[in-house]
Amino acid sequence: MNRSDFLKIMSGGLAYWYARPSFALSKTEQEFTKSLFGNSFEWGVATSAFQCEGAWDVDGKGESIWDRFAHKKGKIKDQNSSDVSCDFYHLYNTDLKLLKDLNFKNFRFSISWPRLLPMGTGTINANGVDFYNRVIDSCIDNNIEPWVCLYHWDLPQALEEQSGWTNRDIVRWFAEFAELCAKKFGDRVKNWLVLNEPVAFTTLGYFIGMHAPGRIGINSYLSSIHHAALCQAEGGRIIREYVQDAHIGTALSCAFIEPHKAKPRFQRAAKRLDVIMNRLFIEPALGMGYPTDDLPFLRKLEKFIEPGDEEKLKFDFDFIGLQNYYTIVTKPGMVPFVWANKMKPSENAELTDMGWEVSPDGIYKILKQFGKYPVKEIIITENGAAFPDVITNAHIADKQRIKFIQEYLKNILKAKNEGVRISGYFVWTFIDNFEWKEGFRPRFGIVYNDFNTQKRIVKNSGIWFKEFLK
Ligand code: NOJ
Repeated sequence: MNRSDFLKIMSGGLAYWYARPSFALSKTEQEFTKSLFGNSFEWGVATSAFQCEGAWDVDGKGESIWDRFAHKKGKIKDQNSSDVSCDFYHLYNTDLKLLKDLNFKNFRFSISWPRLLPMGTGTINANGVDFYNRVIDSCIDNNIEPWVCLYHWDLPQALEEQSGWTNRDIVRWFAEFAELCAKKFGDRVKNWLVLNEPVAFTTLGYFIGMHAPGRIGINSYLSSIHHAALCQAEGGRIIREYVQDAHIGTALSCAFIEPHKAKPRFQRAAKRLDVIMNRLFIEPALGMGYPTDDLPFLRKLEKFIEPGDEEKLKFDFDFIGLQNYYTIVTKPGMVPFVWANKMKPSENAELTDMGWEVSPDGIYKILKQFGKYPVKEIIITENGAAFPDVITNAHIADKQRIKFIQEYLKNILKAKNEGVRISGYFVWTFIDNFEWKEGFRPRFGIVYNDFNTQKRIVKNSGIWFKEFLK
């Protein structure tokens, strides 16, 4: 205990604990400084409403598809739900003070659509607006720049009852929500992300049913893809119209696809998977249309495309948010439409708690791939790792996470030094939170949360960031 210098910040009856790192940085680690990334490089943490806020039915909030899904039996590991989670709804102020203390200058969070518009459209929940005003003001008080993501998967259930993302009316519904956010918060929020990982929420939620709302089928998949791509651009246009000096992006999940063998069959499988994983949402936004040539099944999207849509899919984003965790090694296989399968990680591969192979050079490769698009800037809007954390003497020596972050950062720097226009990095995530269908088991945070007491403990990775960013 005496080697650890505990600091207790008492605020609102809550305690945050953190200890001096019990690790010594090697010489090369000491030489790896944030200045290598340049003075204007943005450093932040990324979070989302459903995963952190809790207060799922408090102060007039409407139900979201994730509330409904998580309350169903058997959908979430250990029957966890995000009803309380980190209780960020009540603890935002102390959490943001802690973020400041860790020397972060940027905070990414999302707006819960049903907290603002309980029925998805129409009546506004003033308490919801007040909450986000308080969060934004608290960011500003703590000298932290707010980065708002409009849609991080928590669609109002009332809209799902009208077919959700498969109904083209969602473009209108989403426009109403985006306009409300822009008008209420745009005076103070300048950095905006329109969608979070549209590939993930359409594929997992509307094709294979593993995520909310749990729908399965090719028609719901294809229609949700097209409507999400339209909303991605429409949301950008609305923010541009109502927010002065807005800096607008959208956050895309990306993974470098590596063919297992250098044989044409493997290369073709990799190309097909690359279309779904990496190209599906950026190319229509850039005016390149859907990448149908490399994945002919996407021609079926035509059924949902109306005259003039090609124009409506375009938006001149200020930046693209790239989110990366792993590389996918692929072979020809039975997964419908892409006819490609993921290879299992090799026996000696290092895996995270999600079973994902640690592959830092993958972020370099995918950045080089994205660097070829005519985009103005790329910001890493998510990267990080879940590892089983062990509390010893009230601190958490999460060596693996520190190493993971350092290795990924080195590869980001390499791509940057080779000319890829990368201007920021957001770690996923700030405080351990609800990891969708995996519940609370995977811990991605640089701050540990005890979900029974809401006590936060800064992990060594958090302390590493504090030193690195100082
Ligand atoms: C993707 C999602 O945007 C986020 O919600 C999730 O928790 C992380 N990546 C980790 O899986």
